[in-house]
Amino acid sequence: MKQYINDDWQFFPQWSDDILGDACGESVRIPHTTAVTPFNCYDESVYQMLCGYKRNVHLDDISQSTVLITFEGVAHYAAVYFNGAKAAEHHCGYTAFTVDVTRYAHQGDNVLAVQVDSREQLDQPPFGNVIDYQTYGGIYRDVYLQVKRGAYVDDVFVKALPNRPVTARISFARLQPPAEFTAAIYDGDSAIWSQRFNASEAVTEICAPQLDLKLWSVDEPNLYRFVVAVDSDQYDVCFGVRSAQFTKNGFYLNGVKTKIVGLNRHQCYPYVGYAMPESMQRRDARILKNTLCVNAVRTSHYPQSQYFIDECDKLGLLVFTEIPGWQYIGDERWRQIACDNLREMITQYRNHPSVVLWGVRINESPDCDELYAQTNAIAHALDDTRQTGGVRYLRKSHLLEDVYTFNDFNRNGATDRNKVCDKSAPYLVTEYNGHMYPTKSYDDAPHRAEHMLRYARMLDGIFAADNVCGAFGWCMFDYNTHKDFGSGDRVCYHGVTDMFRNPKWASGVFSCMGDKPYLQLCFLPDIGDYPEGVLGGVYCLTNADSIKVYKGGAYVGQYTRADSPFKHLPHPPILIDDFIGDRLQREENFRPRNAKAIKRCLADVSKYGLNGLPLKTKLRIARVMMSEHLTMNKVVQLYGKYASGWGSEANRITVEAYTNGQLTATSTIASVTEYKLDITVSHSVLHENTSYDVAAVNIIARDTNGNVCPYVSKAVQLDADGVIQIIGERTVALQGGMTGTYVKTTGVTGKGTLYVDGVPVPFTVV
Ligand code: GAL
Repeated sequence: MKQYINDDWQFFPQWSDDILGDACGESVRIPHTTAVTPFNCYDESVYQMLCGYKRNVHLDDISQSTVLITFEGVAHYAAVYFNGAKAAEHHCGYTAFTVDVTRYAHQGDNVLAVQVDSREQLDQPPFGNVIDYQTYGGIYRDVYLQVKRGAYVDDVFVKALPNRPVTARISFARLQPPAEFTAAIYDGDSAIWSQRFNASEAVTEICAPQLDLKLWSVDEPNLYRFVVAVDSDQYDVCFGVRSAQFTKNGFYLNGVKTKIVGLNRHQCYPYVGYAMPESMQRRDARILKNTLCVNAVRTSHYPQSQYFIDECDKLGLLVFTEIPGWQYIGDERWRQIACDNLREMITQYRNHPSVVLWGVRINESPDCDELYAQTNAIAHALDDTRQTGGVRYLRKSHLLEDVYTFNDFNRNGATDRNKVCDKSAPYLVTEYNGHMYPTKSYDDAPHRAEHMLRYARMLDGIFAADNVCGAFGWCMFDYNTHKDFGSGDRVCYHGVTDMFRNPKWASGVFSCMGDKPYLQLCFLPDIGDYPEGVLGGVYCLTNADSIKVYKGGAYVGQYTRADSPFKHLPHPPILIDDFIGDRLQREENFRPRNAKAIKRCLADVSKYGLNGLPLKTKLRIARVMMSEHLTMNKVVQLYGKYASGWGSEANRITVEAYTNGQLTATSTIASVTEYKLDITVSHSVLHENTSYDVAAVNIIARDTNGNVCPYVSKAVQLDADGVIQIIGERTVALQGGMTGTYVKTTGVTGKGTLYVDGVPVPFTVV
């Protein structure tokens, strides 16, 4: 049984050997970060240190037992001491490791101390050169203790492919053959198969009979449990039955061609970097699946929390996970560590049905055939059920992997695999956009709209290219980065959401691929936000069959996906190019031909501005002015009434979305008269369980129509009382009308209240 030992640690910002003795440090709980940072504009050296952690470990009778301590994640180098003796070292901030401390342990109180090095001078991946993300530090994932009496299961690798019996490769420790063990498959709590076996060797392969198991897929992520019991030990692992194949014709899940539409995810959060507990890890997976509606995630650029991947299993999200690293390859020793990281990644994550591809190349590193021949061989030896990929940005680089995984940073969305790799290779785009168009949620409307369009353009190209397996956009949310990257404030504004996971317009390109009715207007009714007052083409994102558009209360027209320049996306952005409809005929009595011409002219003025009007438009204006005897004053008046919306309710735009003739959503945009803070929480009942719990709080300024007010930048005051604590800054500014915070439990159950500008938000801790 796992006994979590996340509480009652002491933290020492500076390592000294006294830590192994009586020295006392600051009381902390795991997940822990070496430094709580500001939101932005800080020096990344703050989290880099050679520090220490210490905790008492009480052991009851441990005779005939093995005492194991597992660290799920320590960034980045760890030396583990038990009762003063160095028991193990570990060189990876992103994989778990288990330390057998039996020989140093005794009944009663023991001292577990960990020296942690979070400095970036370490000679191990991902370090050695610059890195476009912050690497943080600390014991930031769970720690647990296991005391095993007699033989125990060290590892189980379940292989479950459609139409084949399930097999498992079981590794035992301290086995004294011949020994009996039981293997069973559970569907929920009911065993659907169970059998006794004899193990004659430490590593034993077994095969279950052919069972009628349901497949795991993105729509129906059926999961089972494989349970092995030996002596008093029980090992429980979740698995799913599925096949996943990348081919030169596309990606097939259970034989069904499936376009991968994914996003890249870093594992960081504002203030605390990597140190967030289970609930926040699972929440990111839920945001990806249920809000952003993607079917895949790339864990750039390292293996991420088991909780996150478990949730991907549960929700049906495909995962591409890869070894730590960023562009740089070090010396021989560094490379051997990279290979160790790879072995750990594969053995620790290979039972997850969601994981469909191993990344065995340091992200965007140059070709290094010797190393990558080795990483591919390791991956195939440890897992013969999955293909490998290796993320590169160099066209036609050497393909040692099974899948050509390429970061395609082109501008116009055309994705030409033939320029990138041989036609016979399966091809997957692993990044696009990102630094090509950084976008803050408070950028002006044209910028935010173009950001959205770039995702649409690229994805449209991906859907058009039938044989491309899919693409992962860069990236899910804005993230803190090193000084060499981002906007100079230690933030890369590359996300389709902000750091608190508040959506930008671009997120809608993904969200509207889901089943839930989605409607988002990606423009403002206020021409003043547009340079020269020129709106250009304006777009609406929806997954409805059609939309009806009203301006100033008057109906102006209906649009469908046919009215999109993007012909391949299932739900492309719809171009609304007419806010006038037949109003010029109805309200001004113009002759139909002239009404149409005036409408086109007014639309061109909105699109190109007066200074950029094409000659054709100018001539057309002259013609209708003559034909309808219009004065210049009248033309300006018409522009005011029908195009600019000045001085009236005219710039109130309402869009209704219809599917199968039913109204599914309505959105109205108009000048803001007032706004309120809309406060939502990830969950209001928090659990003190294996450690503290954290709830995410999103704070959004919304106008009376429910729209985000992108330019409300007020400071919001946060306070808390009761059994919760605020993580990070107490005064947060709305950025793009949005911000957030996190509250954590304090080890005590009861009631807590967060005050957002005085408004109480209740929490219960159980
Ligand atoms: C890629 C890199 C990512 C990120 C991205 C920004 O080159 O792999 O980590 O830096 O660029 O667009």
